[in-house]
Amino acid sequence: RTVKAFAPATVANVSCGFDILGFAVEGMGDSVQLIENNSQELRVVSITGDGGRLPLDAAKNTCSVAIQALLDELGIRLGLDIHLEKGLPLGSGMGSSAASAVAALVAVNEFLENPLEKKDLLPFAILAEKVACGAGHADNVAPSLLGGFVLIRDYHPLDVIKLPVPKDLQCVLLHPHYELRTEDSRSVLRDQIPLKYSTIQSGNVGGLVSGLFLSDYGLISRSLRDVIAEPYRAVLIPGFYEVREAIKSAGSLGMGISGSGPTLFSLCQGESSIPGIISAARKVYESMGLGVDAY
Ligand code: HSE
Repeated sequence: RTVKAFAPATVANVSCGFDILGFAVEGMGDSVQLIENNSQELRVVSITGDGGRLPLDAAKNTCSVAIQALLDELGIRLGLDIHLEKGLPLGSGMGSSAASAVAALVAVNEFLENPLEKKDLLPFAILAEKVACGAGHADNVAPSLLGGFVLIRDYHPLDVIKLPVPKDLQCVLLHPHYELRTEDSRSVLRDQIPLKYSTIQSGNVGGLVSGLFLSDYGLISRSLRDVIAEPYRAVLIPGFYEVREAIKSAGSLGMGISGSGPTLFSLCQGESSIPGIISAARKVYESMGLGVDAY
């Protein structure tokens, strides 16, 4: 027997929601195919699209780690060959490791004829994320699994809330050809937050969530601000301030770092401003001698 599942790219944090907000992106993602074998073991048999860099060792691979955790929980032994097709670049900030783990979990759940509800797959995906980047954050895996915009109100216990997505909300992703590991991008963050920054950040999270509920694009725009992670991370991201300046007049509602970067995301109302945003950003990256993919 064989099953195949796809999981989409995601934008985590969405500026103000460090580790608690994320949304799924249409189109791009990773796929995992599972084929039953007779060995009672998980084998990572093939990975495409990673340039040979991801581990085939089942103890280290995000997909097999996630699947094994789920099988252990259910008390099932199963032999599966895992074939992973990476559609997402590594170290890009588009939730690459999350998409692999989620696709693997959705596939194995389907293989077992869906004993678990989708949201119950989340703890296993978080565990895999911890193996992949050292931190068990859910703001990529939750939207990759559930779709749309997601708030993680709490981690202990997990309290995940799906938020509405305004009809005309569009996202542009600008992916410079530059790699940044989540682990490195987290290591520059501070443990302590000054009270005044906590106030600003909470106000913006509330504003963004309200903006989504109200379809208030002005409120969404005003709330796309991050005073906690972005100031420390921006220096790791080539062109961050220049791109933000360049796309300001192109109709962007706001721009931020997608997850831990270096991909930048820009939200807009409708599609009309997308070509202008892409071309303004391209000019910046070109002037820096950096290639960029825009989605
Ligand atoms: N919330 C995580 C971080 C997302 O910012 O480190 C990583 O993609």
